[in-house]
Amino acid sequence: MPDFLELCEVSAKDLRLILEDARKVKTERNGKTRGVLDAGAPLTDYVVALIFEKHSTRTRLSFDVGVRQMGGQSIVLASTELHRSRGETVKDTALMLSRYVDLIMIRTFADKVIREMAEHASVPVINGLTDYSHPCQIMADVMTFEEKAGPIEGKTVVWVGTGNNVCNSFLHAAGQFGFNFVFCGPEGFDPDQRAVSFATSMGSEFIIDRNPFTCVKDADMIVTDAWISMHEEAGGDSRQKLHAYQVNQKLLSFARPDVIFMHCLPAHREEEVTSEVLDGPNSAILDEAENRLHVQKSIMKWCLGLI
Ligand code: CP
Ligand code: NVA
Repeated sequence: MPDFLELCEVSAKDLRLILEDARKVKTERNGKTRGVLDAGAPLTDYVVALIFEKHSTRTRLSFDVGVRQMGGQSIVLASTELHRSRGETVKDTALMLSRYVDLIMIRTFADKVIREMAEHASVPVINGLTDYSHPCQIMADVMTFEEKAGPIEGKTVVWVGTGNNVCNSFLHAAGQFGFNFVFCGPEGFDPDQRAVSFATSMGSEFIIDRNPFTCVKDADMIVTDAWISMHEEAGGDSRQKLHAYQVNQKLLSFARPDVIFMHCLPAHREEEVTSEVLDGPNSAILDEAENRLHVQKSIMKWCLGLI
């Protein structure tokens, strides 16, 4: 059964299948309370381990609630409670977990950990964020964009800020879903070259424009994220260098009035983005967060061969 590790490693056809299933089930659930089971309770008989080696609010809640809505059972594990934090190897952890659970979702630091987990686990592994990528988030973001503005193919996504893990997954998605990607940030903060190469090899246009006011002109979506990610050290002069790349109302005034603003959250209000934008009419942040739930349920079903 397949892992869900990177958007560039799952076929575009399967990514579409996942999005279609998510849309269908979300519609069927409309107006129901959160604890109502999905039709057919597809995860009855399945146990899912949700492992967190970093902090999380949305990923933890959305996976846990998602498993419950599908009739399955989830076990949330913080790394500090596991022998992993005392040196038990990823390989031993993966082999042992595979005897207890049917699916593993892990949020961790190095990409290497998730690769090793997937190599040794005999059950599917889902990437819940690494230092390198955040594929589940971008599936939710594509779903959110298409709900609001129709097919994302041929559209222009403008990333303002620092080229981090979320940005890398956006580049994978650009290649898979056929949208164009503009990166707008200071020199030294560009996204990973492998992610850029994937997008361009799939026919996406990739542009670097270091001027925030010109870069947003043709944007269908403007997206940003924290300037300092969980795996990064605060300090140095990053904040100073990124200062000119804050998403604020002045920047939005250079974009089309219907531009969609996204942020995976948590946001650092008045740092990478102002409250005026986060809480304003262009913002899709709560829909993005909600769609994590819907799309991850479909990702879990896809991993288990249930769609
Ligand atoms: N966007 C996101 O992954 O949020 P959490 O860190 O709260 O899980
Ligand atoms: N780039 C952020 C995303 C948090 C969901 C981080 O890795 O901390």
